[in-house]
Amino acid sequence: MLNGKRILLIVAGGIAAFKSLELIRRLRERGASVRCVVTEAGARFVTPLSLQALSEDRVYGDMFSLTDESEMGHIQLSRDADLLVVAPATADLLARMASGMADDLAATVLLATDKPVLAAPAMNVRMWTHAATVTNVETLKRRGVAFVGPNDGAMACNEHGPGRMAEPHEIVAAIESLLALAPAKPLAGRRALVTSGPTREAIDPVRYISNHSSGKQGHAIASALARLGAEVTLVCGPVSLPDPPGLATVHIDSADQMLAACLAAGSVDIAVCAAAVADWKVARPATAKIKKQPGAEPPVLTMVPNPDILATLSSLGANARPRRPALVVGFAAETENLVANAIDKRKRKGCDWIVANDVSPATGTFGGERNTVHLISAAGVEDWPTLAKDDVASRLAARIARHFAAPPTAQAAE
Ligand code: C5P
Repeated sequence: MLNGKRILLIVAGGIAAFKSLELIRRLRERGASVRCVVTEAGARFVTPLSLQALSEDRVYGDMFSLTDESEMGHIQLSRDADLLVVAPATADLLARMASGMADDLAATVLLATDKPVLAAPAMNVRMWTHAATVTNVETLKRRGVAFVGPNDGAMACNEHGPGRMAEPHEIVAAIESLLALAPAKPLAGRRALVTSGPTREAIDPVRYISNHSSGKQGHAIASALARLGAEVTLVCGPVSLPDPPGLATVHIDSADQMLAACLAAGSVDIAVCAAAVADWKVARPATAKIKKQPGAEPPVLTMVPNPDILATLSSLGANARPRRPALVVGFAAETENLVANAIDKRKRKGCDWIVANDVSPATGTFGGERNTVHLISAAGVEDWPTLAKDDVASRLAARIARHFAAPPTAQAAE
């Protein structure tokens, strides 16, 4: 299964490093070659000599060794690998990866690589659940780093909980599935546009009307499409998420600006409208801050409808500039009659697919990390299980890739 695959194994400083020896043995049994980079702390838990003996290769550790840098620079180390595996991935190394540090060879290789990265975290349970680590792991996942484990159980520090490094056989299984997926860039050469987040509609220069959209789902979709090779433009309203790496992000405030940015992105193959666009805007926003006059009536706001971006993109002509995207996907958040309303919305908006999102309180998913969705196309309704938003995004991107891989007649039917 792993015949001829080249694994660069990065061993950081944790008690679980002893399991990395077993991992090397299992990988080599399956035909992979393993080259090791060990951090200074890692070398205190497992000797470079053991790593060398099991990998039957040199072990790299000192970034400033001139011989290493001339014979095998940090760039070359990752160039020569199909996959980088960080096992154990300590809280410290994950933090350095998340913040883009390059303060030792391990961190430098991880920053310089364009290869897939798999991390097998191992640390004390409180370090794993600490907000800093949680944020670092979220950041890394968004950037496409894959994770295996940690597992729940008794720990070397006499505590119990999540933090034990995944077992070598589990890491091997994760490596096998990652390498099976890694070369697939089925959306290479396709352009995609994704809208995400809320819009802000000005009342006056300091006040606005908006909504609670976090942008998590839209951002995750943009990243998932980029992972499959699409050239993605993400047009997003004000969110507190970082710009996803590897794609172009355009920041806007209002629905009018969002529409203008979408049209300015030019012709695309795929448009996914996941933004929560305000339905109305203030007809004439005040140019100066509206004063609170003692005793005066509160101001009355006259609202007018915003442009419907999804409907506008769907109605572009095949020869227009920009032209209609070959696949336009909208979202429908509903609390009741989800599928019936979404089928109706698909027709009304003129889009190809609707991702219908069940936000009824019973699902407990509104504003959370998970989503229960149905994919509605001309071909019918697909019911998806409740998934993390990242998984909804990956599944939607894979579904889009499958659509484009199908013959034109099948594409037209859905
Ligand atoms: O009409 P409704 O807001 O329920 O439709 C939701 C879908 O339409 C989402 O895909 C949303 O991004 C899109 N939409 C839009 N422009 C609007 C309103 C909604 O693109 N003005």
